[in-house]
Amino acid sequence: MLVTQQPVFRQFWYPVVLCESLKAGPQSFELLGEPLVLWLDGAGQPAAARDRCCHRTAKLSLGCVDQGHIRCPYHGWQFDATGACVHVPQLGADKTIPANYRVPAYRCTERYGYVWVCLAEPIADIPPIDETASSDYRLIHEFYEPWQTAGLRVMENELDLAHPTFVHTATFGSEEHPVPDSLEIEDTDYGIRVRGLLGVVNPEQQQKNLKMDAGGTVRTLEMDWFMPFTIKLKIIYPNGLEHIVVNTMTPISDRVSQMVQFCVRNDTEAETPAQDVIAFDRAVTLEDKQILESTDYDVPLSPSQEEHMLTDRPGVMIRKKVAALLKQHGEVEQTRQPPATKSPAPVNHSVSAGSRR
Ligand code: FES
Ligand SMILES: [Fe+2]
Repeated sequence: MLVTQQPVFRQFWYPVVLCESLKAGPQSFELLGEPLVLWLDGAGQPAAARDRCCHRTAKLSLGCVDQGHIRCPYHGWQFDATGACVHVPQLGADKTIPANYRVPAYRCTERYGYVWVCLAEPIADIPPIDETASSDYRLIHEFYEPWQTAGLRVMENELDLAHPTFVHTATFGSEEHPVPDSLEIEDTDYGIRVRGLLGVVNPEQQQKNLKMDAGGTVRTLEMDWFMPFTIKLKIIYPNGLEHIVVNTMTPISDRVSQMVQFCVRNDTEAETPAQDVIAFDRAVTLEDKQILESTDYDVPLSPSQEEHMLTDRPGVMIRKKVAALLKQHGEVEQTRQPPATKSPAPVNHSVSAGSRR
């Protein structure tokens, strides 16, 4: 599936930039192939519009913000948060600005410290992370970087409890636990909920972070996949510590996703400094990144195109639900090329007597 070729993905919210970054001036971001300019309007609220001036197509993000309006760097036209042109320096004050002087503007709001954008009529809310509203938890911004991979690959990776043994060899993967002790999947209106138990290694760096000195532990996992590209991964340790990873793979193009990750924890900075939490999660995500960037970005929704095993059940369900979403919106899965026959015919390596020399 090619995400930019499926219009329904324009109907979901995605985090695009950190709110904090807009204080320095307008920012650009590419969402599903759409170039965006983001800035703070007169009320200090984030605004989003197409990053192309309607006059001579210059990038508005190279301009500046003037009293809440984005000002084009080329001839100084100014646009408000609705995309309407509100000032043309070359036009006399007594002249009316033509109504067609405008750029497409998009829905835009702030949540969890990020600017979220939806390019069309939303069909789902921004994923609710209830713990962020509680004073018992703190939010730590972790990663914001492009990955050369499809969002769906990352979604199913996070729910794939067979990969830690082989991928997270320097962090938490355990050779003694190649499969989870339990795995339950529930269908929900927002995506799926997966519950599991996984034995993991507890390395020295993590022992400090978790305040647990055993060399191994068990993760109780409550994982929510919010269609299409957000995962909330709640890890509960035996001592009651909760480490909740929230990851959205914001689709930039068919091949590239912006990895946006923060975590929410019920401990304090004095107990575990944020930089130590980030350092461990950095090592974990880099292990995933290397593998995921090696996978094919054109993720097939049909189960017949790749092989599966029992621990892939969440991923298979994700693909099934995305296929149903497309169908519901009258879309046909777009692929890089028509599905090939899965496996080529086996090559006969036997050498016939006549060909021997
Ligand atoms: S290109 Fe933007 S004002 Fe001319
Ligand atoms: Fe992983």
